[in-house]
Amino acid sequence: MNFNPKNVAFLNAVIIALAFAAVLTAIDGIFYKIMLWPLILGSLTMFVVSYLIIHFSLQKFIYQRLKIIYKTIGKVGSFDTKKQKSSKTEDVLDIVNQMVLEWRDEQQKKIDELQKNAEYRREFLGNVSHELKTPIFNIQGYVLTLLDQGLKDETINMKFLQKTEKSVNRMIAIVEDLEEIAKFESGELKLNEEVFDLHELCRDIADFLEIKAEQNNSKIIIKETPGKTVKVKADKKRIRQVLINLVDNAIKYGNQINGVIEISFYDFHDNYLVEVSDNGIGIPESSIPRVFERFFRTDKSRSRDKGGTGLGLAIVKHIIEAHRQSISVRSQVSKGTTFSFTLKKAK
Ligand SMILES: Nc1ncnc2c1ncn2[C@@H]1O[C@H](COP(=O)(O)OP(=O)(O)OP(=O)(O)O)[C@@H](O)[C@H]1O
Ligand SMILES: [Mg+2]
Repeated sequence: MNFNPKNVAFLNAVIIALAFAAVLTAIDGIFYKIMLWPLILGSLTMFVVSYLIIHFSLQKFIYQRLKIIYKTIGKVGSFDTKKQKSSKTEDVLDIVNQMVLEWRDEQQKKIDELQKNAEYRREFLGNVSHELKTPIFNIQGYVLTLLDQGLKDETINMKFLQKTEKSVNRMIAIVEDLEEIAKFESGELKLNEEVFDLHELCRDIADFLEIKAEQNNSKIIIKETPGKTVKVKADKKRIRQVLINLVDNAIKYGNQINGVIEISFYDFHDNYLVEVSDNGIGIPESSIPRVFERFFRTDKSRSRDKGGTGLGLAIVKHIIEAHRQSISVRSQVSKGTTFSFTLKKAK
């Protein structure tokens, strides 16, 4: 039965009236004085009075207050408004109960998310200071050595100045990357879309990175798409940045003895799918979901040796998402890695 003031008052009034009648009948049994009609009338009066008192009390002290709570929760959370409308006929306690549970879950989710963000921010700040600390301490060391007679020492002064410059450049690279990510996150960076041939851009990038690939015993292969150009509509400068990072990663973390880096294109209705694959060290399965995180590196020391900050893929993801496209990765340790992303076809 629904818990609403009418039903509860009715039930209680019936019980009270029956109890009253029972008591009167018992008295009647003892004294043989009470007649039938006064018994019925008395019980009816008892029923009506009890009903009114109980109904009034419930309505005034419980139901109205519950409804206020119910409406407040309804306003705070994003609850189904149908539930609020049907509250007159339904069991208001049940609805309030259900809403409180839903509200609790929703609040818990928000708390979890805030906690995760706070943790992420803490980790991020820790990473930034850690990444900057290394070049700063290096610079401090070089400068101190130079000040401490090193400047006059022809055998080391140039070397230390060059090392200082390298550390300064690394700091600049980190700050510039961070600035770029911040701009993407605040939606400040606008895309400059144009129609261009992706195949041609890839050839350009392969030329640009050819020497680095050779130094790492790797070759870059662009899979032919027979008879076709790969015309896309995107921000060419940004896509160039994406491809340079993916190919650069494929060189750095690719096979160092016989590296093969392949760039291929697939025609997918409205989009082209672009894949950059290598036959290198691969990424452990547990790290795959994290590779697009800022500063994430599967092997910190190896990556730092190669000059990486771990911001490249975070920027790549931002660029692809700003194009409202997606990027994914699949990889097998010791076999290789493939990054795939989509781009809108030019009409
Ligand atoms: N092709 C790949 N094979 C294996 N691991 C990879 C590959 N690409 C990326 N990774 C892993 O993902 C991490 C993040 O890559 P990302 O490009 O963001 O950083 P990075 O190359 O180390 O530095 P940056 O790009 O800022 O110079 C790398 O440090 C590496 O551990
Ligand atoms: Mg990189």
